[in-house]
Amino acid sequence: MTSTRIQNVHAREVFDSRGRPTVEVEIACEGYRAGRAIVPSGASTGVFEALELRDGDADRLQGLGVRRAVENVNSEIRSALVGQNATDQQTIDQLLIELDGTPNKSRLGANAILGASLAAVYAAAEAEDVRPVDQFRFIWNEHSTRVSSGRTGNPGLASCLPLPMVNMISGGKHAGGNLDFQDYLILPVGATSYPQAFEWIVTVYQHVGRLLTKSGFEGVLVGDEGGYGPKLASNEQALDFVVAGIEAAGLRPGEDVCIGLDVASAHFHHEGKYRLAATGEEELIASEVINLLEDWVNRYPIISIEDGLDENDWDGWQELTQRLGDRVQLIGDDLFVTNKERLQRGIDSGVANSVLIKLNQIGTLTETLQAMKLALENDYWPVVSARSGETEDTTIADLVVATGAGQLKVGSVARSERLAKYNQLLRLSECDAFSYVGGAIFDAIRN
Ligand code: PGA
Ligand code: ZN
Repeated sequence: MTSTRIQNVHAREVFDSRGRPTVEVEIACEGYRAGRAIVPSGASTGVFEALELRDGDADRLQGLGVRRAVENVNSEIRSALVGQNATDQQTIDQLLIELDGTPNKSRLGANAILGASLAAVYAAAEAEDVRPVDQFRFIWNEHSTRVSSGRTGNPGLASCLPLPMVNMISGGKHAGGNLDFQDYLILPVGATSYPQAFEWIVTVYQHVGRLLTKSGFEGVLVGDEGGYGPKLASNEQALDFVVAGIEAAGLRPGEDVCIGLDVASAHFHHEGKYRLAATGEEELIASEVINLLEDWVNRYPIISIEDGLDENDWDGWQELTQRLGDRVQLIGDDLFVTNKERLQRGIDSGVANSVLIKLNQIGTLTETLQAMKLALENDYWPVVSARSGETEDTTIADLVVATGAGQLKVGSVARSERLAKYNQLLRLSECDAFSYVGGAIFDAIRN
């Protein structure tokens, strides 16, 4: 007998790109092969994220084991899901949320819950004999058949390949260098197809590495997400190298390729002050950080800034949005944590104009899609994102195409946990059904 009813649920501990344990879940429908998902893990995590359950057993893997989360899947979650219809994602996720019973998924663990939530998608795809991207599209349509956005390119309406936002140089908590800011990224806004965009990115990446090495910085050592991790003299010097890399690739900064930043400011924010260390101790208040960012926006082709201010600094964020929101994409990552209540607060108070979407910040697929839908309905750009701890799992590549979100942030183009996603997009780019909006998504702020 075969059906889309869940017959088995099984989890195990596997390892992520930092060599840390994480949760893998397999779910099988009656008579079909199991579908499988692996949960990612962050390093610069927001304090409002759903809880990632770790064993805390100091004698094993520095307390980072996830055996308790695995056991929660193999016992309680398995009992709750066996017999459910794998194609009914919203029911499955609701069951998981209720079974956990806490506001931040701290009883069973967001890692246990998300593993089960996503494995159900892959189980359903096996049973229905469709590609994961089609199954994600089916689920997205149930959420938002009529989501329409005022943004150019109408993100969220039709499935499409994303504009990638790709890390060139890494700092902050992701690299051993001395940069305060976490990511210096490029956005190939002028490319007319995903494969062209990707070719431009890898070309710039190679040039940035070569230029760093030539200038005496190690252009081969990379951070957690594959961006170079040089010990530069200042935060601004990283921008100069990225611009030089774009030019060395024969591309035009600001026309073909723009720059993005993930300031990830929470990690250097203490009691109302932003402490920068790259060029000697400096303590700034929010408006001084905004002055610095505004100065950079005036002098460099910066089109996107993430977590420019701290996750609790709502007043500072309001000022940042007033001053830069009409010419820069301002992304809330730690600020919104893919949580629709926090995003709603941002919308109501005129804070940011974009939201980073990370499945494990909230812990189920359904809640993730609800946050994306809320963003799109309010003209906020959703940017689907990986974590700094990743695996071969390609969920976010299929998800970003299926939802037509328009933008993807996966880290750099070295390290195969990143390439797994980019290569999946190259496969999907062969499918005529998926268009490419690319940099046109930013027409409203670039013209
Ligand atoms: P994280 O970093 O996964 O370590 O949180 C990614 C980001 O801040 O965007
Ligand atoms: Zn971030």
